[in-house]
Amino acid sequence: TAPVTTGDLAAMKRRGDPIVMVTAYDHVTARVAESAGVDAVLVGDSAAMTVLGYPSTREIGVDELLVLTRAVRRGLVRPLLVGDLPYASYEASDAQALGTARRFVDAGCAAVKMEGAGPIADRARALVRAGIPVMGHVGLTPQASAGPEGYRVRGATADEVLGIRRDVDALVDAGCFAIVFEAIPAAVAALLVPAIPVPVIGIGAGPATDGQVLVFHDLVGLSEGRAPRFVKRYAALGPLMVDAVARYAAETRAREFPAPEHTYRIPAAELEAARV
Ligand code: KIV
Ligand code: NA
Repeated sequence: TAPVTTGDLAAMKRRGDPIVMVTAYDHVTARVAESAGVDAVLVGDSAAMTVLGYPSTREIGVDELLVLTRAVRRGLVRPLLVGDLPYASYEASDAQALGTARRFVDAGCAAVKMEGAGPIADRARALVRAGIPVMGHVGLTPQASAGPEGYRVRGATADEVLGIRRDVDALVDAGCFAIVFEAIPAAVAALLVPAIPVPVIGIGAGPATDGQVLVFHDLVGLSEGRAPRFVKRYAALGPLMVDAVARYAAETRAREFPAPEHTYRIPAAELEAARV
């Protein structure tokens, strides 16, 4: 099974085959994504909240996300691996963006993702020229939306839709191989996607995108608190895990664990000889 390439994703768009992407943050979640047969994996800066316990994605640093990226790389064979560039690690200049992106490529990423357009489209162009594939991200961009009122739908007015269209045009012109649409009305995605030449991966953007991405912890039911409207929980692993650890605790306190089958043995004669 050859690794998925950015060209494979473009071919999937041409054929009308939906692209499946999920986040992963460590070896376990990478193995799950691999075994489930997804097409692409994002080491999202959502790791800040899902696994590191920070209040927003702005808190995670490059070094922290690189530790997680290498763990994912060790667990992944076939899916395309995309690294998410953390807040304040790429926006300032082309040189900064290149330096950070190269570290993610060295950690095993086939591509990197950056949030926003405007000057970020220039950063994207610089990376593409340097041979690093870039995934764009428009609509709700969490790094720019820290604070509760910021996490809301984008493109719910004609002005905002035109802004998204301009951003997409700039990112496509810069050479992005794909673009994430986050928290955009389904009808807006349906309006824009047919004119976009690269794969559009949606999260909260309805069924008209070329693929979907979800946060691993959201879809398996491991994230705490109220989930956004666009999350579908396919399992409730959180309560299962709490139940397992609680039963272990109860059996340990009742001296029911460990049972004989969990213990090692020594021949009786050896034990006798050891008595002094
Ligand atoms: O960090 C992340 O998980 C993301 C996806 C939701 C697109 O950026
Ligand atoms: Na992200």
